[in-house]
Amino acid sequence: MALASANDVVVLKFGGTSVSTRARWETIGAIASARLERGERPFIVCSAVSGVSNLLEGLLAAAIAGDHEGVLAEIRAKHEVLATELEVDLDALIGKHLEKLGRFALGANLISEVSPKLQAQVMAMGELMSTTLGAAFLKQQGVALAWRDARDMLRAVREENANDNRHYLSSPCVFEPDAALLEEITQAEEPVVLTQGFIARDGRGDTVLLGRGGSDTSAAYFAAKLGAKRLEIWTDVPGMFTANPRQVAGARLLRRLTYNEAQELATMGAKVLHPRCIEPVRRHAIPLHICCTQQPELEGTVISRDVPDFGAQVKAISSKGSIPLISLETVGMWQQVGFLADVFGVFKKNGVSIDLVATSETNVTMSLDPVANALDGGTLDQLVVDLSKMAQAKRIGPCAAVSLVGHDIRAIMHKLGSALEVFEEHRIYMMSQAASDLNLTFVVQEDQADRLVRKLHALVFGDRSQDELLGPTWREIFAEDEENDEDERQLARGRWWRRRRDDLLALMAKHQEPLYVYDRATLIDSCEQLQAMTAVDRLHYAIKANPNPEILSLFAGRGVNFECVSPGELDHCLNHVEGVAADKLLCTLNFAGPHEYAKGYEVGATVTLDNLHPLEKHPEVFAGREVFLRLDPGLGKGHHKHVRTAGASSKFGLSAGDIDRAIALTREHGVKVTGLHVHIGSGVKSVETWSENALFLAKMAERFEDVRVLDLGGGLGVPERSGQDALDLVAVNESLLKFKEAHPRFELWIEPGRFFVARAGVLLARVTQLKSKGTHHYIGVETGMNSLIRPALYGAFHEIINLTKLGQPMAMTADVVGPICESGDVLGYGRRLPVTEEGDVLLIGTAGAYGRAMSSRYNLREPAREVLI
Ligand code: LLP
Repeated sequence: MALASANDVVVLKFGGTSVSTRARWETIGAIASARLERGERPFIVCSAVSGVSNLLEGLLAAAIAGDHEGVLAEIRAKHEVLATELEVDLDALIGKHLEKLGRFALGANLISEVSPKLQAQVMAMGELMSTTLGAAFLKQQGVALAWRDARDMLRAVREENANDNRHYLSSPCVFEPDAALLEEITQAEEPVVLTQGFIARDGRGDTVLLGRGGSDTSAAYFAAKLGAKRLEIWTDVPGMFTANPRQVAGARLLRRLTYNEAQELATMGAKVLHPRCIEPVRRHAIPLHICCTQQPELEGTVISRDVPDFGAQVKAISSKGSIPLISLETVGMWQQVGFLADVFGVFKKNGVSIDLVATSETNVTMSLDPVANALDGGTLDQLVVDLSKMAQAKRIGPCAAVSLVGHDIRAIMHKLGSALEVFEEHRIYMMSQAASDLNLTFVVQEDQADRLVRKLHALVFGDRSQDELLGPTWREIFAEDEENDEDERQLARGRWWRRRRDDLLALMAKHQEPLYVYDRATLIDSCEQLQAMTAVDRLHYAIKANPNPEILSLFAGRGVNFECVSPGELDHCLNHVEGVAADKLLCTLNFAGPHEYAKGYEVGATVTLDNLHPLEKHPEVFAGREVFLRLDPGLGKGHHKHVRTAGASSKFGLSAGDIDRAIALTREHGVKVTGLHVHIGSGVKSVETWSENALFLAKMAERFEDVRVLDLGGGLGVPERSGQDALDLVAVNESLLKFKEAHPRFELWIEPGRFFVARAGVLLARVTQLKSKGTHHYIGVETGMNSLIRPALYGAFHEIINLTKLGQPMAMTADVVGPICESGDVLGYGRRLPVTEEGDVLLIGTAGAYGRAMSSRYNLREPAREVLI
């Protein structure tokens, strides 16, 4: 056989799940053969069978308790299953290994002690056994391979100050180029080598381990020693992702990373690679490929020196949990020389290394890296006791470090503004920007971490698609279509236009004008979500959100009632909605003249009064009738100050001070108060809002004997962009059911507007012009604030999508503006869009509520017309 040159050696590493079944060993055989066919020399490094290292780790502890037989049997059984599948002879191949394990266990039992040296010998058996079985199988399959003992090839070095624990269980190895080994390998008759990960030998000939997860590191050492052409790490995930795919199914595969970024990601919690395995390949510039055993054809992540420059950007959001924090509170440190030195001395004495540090004049907070420290409770307790002598010390946690990882993070800090909004509602214990400029880390309460990662990911990557850097999402690769987050599920309900893109583009081709388009199925879906609220006795639609007659008829046909705020809205319902029940209309007026109240009674609606003035000055309108009173609980909520409708600075509702007079006046004029009403604002997403208001009204109702209805208003918010909270209606309902259980005498009514219609509507407009001023880019569309005023009025966010170019990679950042003569005529600032051209159709999302309803003919430009599909 011709000698392979050094460059033809390829190191392949397979982890536990990749060596546990026959199918996986067949994959290993196939991959090795494919490499051989390309003229490469595969050098295969394998882990122990899945679960075996854990069993071996527990074996000696069990042995001391005289309880090891069960563990031994389990270890044997795992290998028996594999040997049977592989059709190889278990006893002939690894009978001796299993016997030896039994003897080790007995030994430990006899001397009641487990030394790290013995532990290493026991743990090494896992890899020795898996590779022995696998080698026999591959040979049987015709692969020309040599099984080699990794300990004869890898030399461990004892670190200065390393105790036995560290030396035997987590040792580094020499990885200088090894010409002798290379020659041996390349001159061998068999072109394929199969060896073990995780194990090595020290200068004294003792077996040592490379630390848990150390097989990656072994493979990297071998690659460095052999000057390999490539290191391939085969695992059960296809690479590194923009977030942990178990947390975020929409996480995207990262196609290319530098060694530094990969190191940072591995260190910051991505579990695909062991952090220690990067250095050996970095030093020798060996490309590292992460590949997936289940889907060998996938390209995976390539980590190398020659990565195209993608510019400064966030590449991933990672999180690492179980992080203890130590906080020191003292006034003594201010301007004190040596205070921190003394503090760090205590850490040194207790053998604990610090990860992040934040200091202020009176506080020092430090995070401890659980990977770098053996952090048992006792060590931490002792640490706190010792620190308490110098300051008020306490443990906080468990916490999690949530990091934005990428290079040059500093350069893009200003663009992270909106992404950082998610931290508004969460306590941040510390924040650190690495001096390497590779990460920005926030330490938060551990139970917040998953949610934060999902939100940050959505904000940073939500509108990104595949490109040279980003690959497919986890969900696309594994065809998982389940959204794993309720907020994203709710948001997806508003993205019906992805399904109906062709219909929408056809509509725009037919009508040469901007259009509001409403999706019937989504209207029905929202209606059904609200009707599923079993605690609600009567559901009204606040028609101000969108009085489109077809929409009103659709809801009326489903048994929904209506809430009106003007005589105009009352007439609109009565004239345009067939079969509308006048006695089911609500008439909620504010600062209206007496004739408007009279009109409400005339049509048979339920009239709500939110001021005593009409009752005092025009009692004849109300005398002998029923009325609802709108009360102000004192605190408003909502997406913008203009839509918060409670509190002294809001013009709505009767305040607590009005109640006595309201009682007197209604008595005096024979007016019966049958209901109390509250509506504190719009776009509210906190679940408990409505039950809290119900409790408030129930308390007030104690003063009004005829009250049987509590109207909790509307205000139910919807998510407008990835990463925003969605309101959990099921939870709202549950909290109202609890309220009803305690207060069975009341009927509960609600009157949402937005929730019914917001997500069902989009505004479509064609691109008219493009313009750049310096680095600032503008995309103009044929309608603006005359159709949709919410961005100008409230700074409201509406998603903007280039529907014509849907799915194409984002290529530009621009303000999307309309044709109105106002600088505020902007539909969206700094939006990422694909290459956009005149004539492209842009879609402005979540525009079904307060869109067309608030439009105007300003500049004598007609607002977009409406179509229901
Ligand atoms: N009930 C009363 C008494 C109201 O004042 C309102 C809205 C609603 C119900 C319905 O609220 P919804 O469920 O839609 O949040 N133009 C603003 C919203 C103003 C809401 C005014 N009152 C916007 O575009 O966000």
